[in-house]
This record gives sequence, C-alpha cells and structure tokens, in this order.
Amino acid sequence: MAENRIKIDPYEHIDKFFTRASLLATMSKDGKPNVMSILWRSIGELWMYPVITVAVSPSRYSYELLTKGIREFTLNVPSDKISSAIDICGTYSGRNTDKFKQANLTIIPGKRVKVPTIKDCVLSYECKIIHETDSGNIEPHHLFFGEILAAYTLKEEI
Ligand SMILES: Cc1cc2nc3c(=O)[nH]c(=O)nc-3n(C[C@H](O)[C@H](O)[C@H](O)COP(=O)(O)O)c2cc1C
Repeated sequence: MAENRIKIDPYEHIDKFFTRASLLATMSKDGKPNVMSILWRSIGELWMYPVITVAVSPSRYSYELLTKGIREFTLNVPSDKISSAIDICGTYSGRNTDKFKQANLTIIPGKRVKVPTIKDCVLSYECKIIHETDSGNIEPHHLFFGEILAAYTLKEEI
C-alpha cells in the first residue's frame, strides 16, 4: 500500500511536531525534488493562516530550490522506521546526491502542492510559501513561511 496515512487538520496531533529534534523538508525545481534535515522550524498561526516556518541557510542547495524553484515545501516528522534519514539528509547535498535514494525514502506525490511528501512520517505538511525574510543577526538563515494547505498523520498514530 503506497499510503499508510490519513488527512488531518493542521493543528491535530501537534504535540508530535515536537517529538523529534529534527525533521525532513522537501522542495523542488525543474521537476527534481530534494530533501534536507531541518532543526529550526515552528508551527502556529500568522495572519489568520496555519503556518509553518523553516530557517534555511542561503548556503544550502535547498535554499536555491526554495527561492528559484517551486514556491512550496513540505515538512515531515520521520517515524522511527526512517529516522536514520536525518543524518544522511543533513550531511549530503542534493547538488550531487539523490538523497531520497541514498536514505531509502519513498516519495508520496503532493496532493495540494507539486512538491512530494515522504512515506512513513508521523506527520507531513504540504505548504505554500506566503512570506520570507532574513533572520536578522541571530543566524545567517532565511525564514520561509509556508501556509499549511494539507496535513497527514500515520494511521497507526491515531
Ligand atoms: C540534525 C540536523 C539538523 C539541521 N537543521 C538545519 C536547519 O534547520 N537549517 C539549515 O539550513 N540547515 C540545517 N541542517 C544542515 C542541512 O540539513 C545540511 O547542510 C544539508 O546537507 C543541506 O542539504 P542541501 O545542500 O541538499 O540543501 C541540519 C543538519 C542536521 C544534521
């Protein structure tokens, strides 16, 4: 079965958003998706939208895709089954590595976005970038604010 998950509201099971230190973000350009590990993220409500924010360094290949590719991303909370992907996706670069293959991750095509989510994630969010800004003098990162268009959880988490 390709999909072992169900659709949920953006803030359902929100406690699980914080159970893992690091999550997996995906983004895409020219039909080529990429995945990176993300430690710095938040979820909440902004401008009346359910919003996820990710902090991405401009040095990342992922930054190039987020700024020059499809203006969407997904954020995924890995289950134990795929938790080893965090190291791979946070070490290798999509510039020269297919990290989905390298980390043995299965892609699920996005339903509301053109960017794929990842199978076997406790939570997955499909987001459309609605705002972005530099993070100022805290760290040289760029903040991408994504409106949550769809959210999913694993069936066994219900
Ligand atoms: C556990 C972990 C968490 C990370 N969190 C972030 C983060 O929040 N923001 C960021 O820009 N880089 C973060 N990184 C670094 C990127 O994931 C890493 O540089 C990655 O190789 C970038 O891939 P890319 O070149 O394909 O974009 C993290 C790395 C690890 C191992």
